[in-house]
Amino acid sequence: MKINIGISDKNRQAVALELNKLLADEHVLYNKTRNYHWSVEGPSFMEFHKLYEAQYTDLAETIDQIAERIRTIGHFAEGRLKEIIQLATLDEPEAPVDQKSQIANLSSDHETLIQRLRKMITQFDEEFKDAGSADFVTGLLKQHEKMAWMLRSYTR
Ligand SMILES: [Fe+2]
Repeated sequence: MKINIGISDKNRQAVALELNKLLADEHVLYNKTRNYHWSVEGPSFMEFHKLYEAQYTDLAETIDQIAERIRTIGHFAEGRLKEIIQLATLDEPEAPVDQKSQIANLSSDHETLIQRLRKMITQFDEEFKDAGSADFVTGLLKQHEKMAWMLRSYTR
């Protein structure tokens, strides 16, 4: 059955593309956080080991929600690793083992996504007339802001 939810085909396609690019970067951040969960060393090993696990678990749920939002507006989510790598923009430097470098790297990625999500809210609502996706990415913005706060709190 053809989708008929009051958003033009062109706009749905544009939103789906932006969401697929976001999905790819969420994969990178998920993987990086999980990698740090494995590689972290230092006096607060268990603290960071657990923090990273909590965050990558949340990011796994975020990934699922984004993919399902893409399906909701009538498109397919990009699920192949080689396509994900091509679409992703976040940097993947060699994994540091010290907590300070890890926190700096993850915080920077969250901030990059927060800034991008903030632009997507307006773009989805005003340019592509997709209030549902604008609301959806607003929720993601708040999640990333909270994760960034938790990471930043270790840096004083
Ligand atoms: Fe584990």
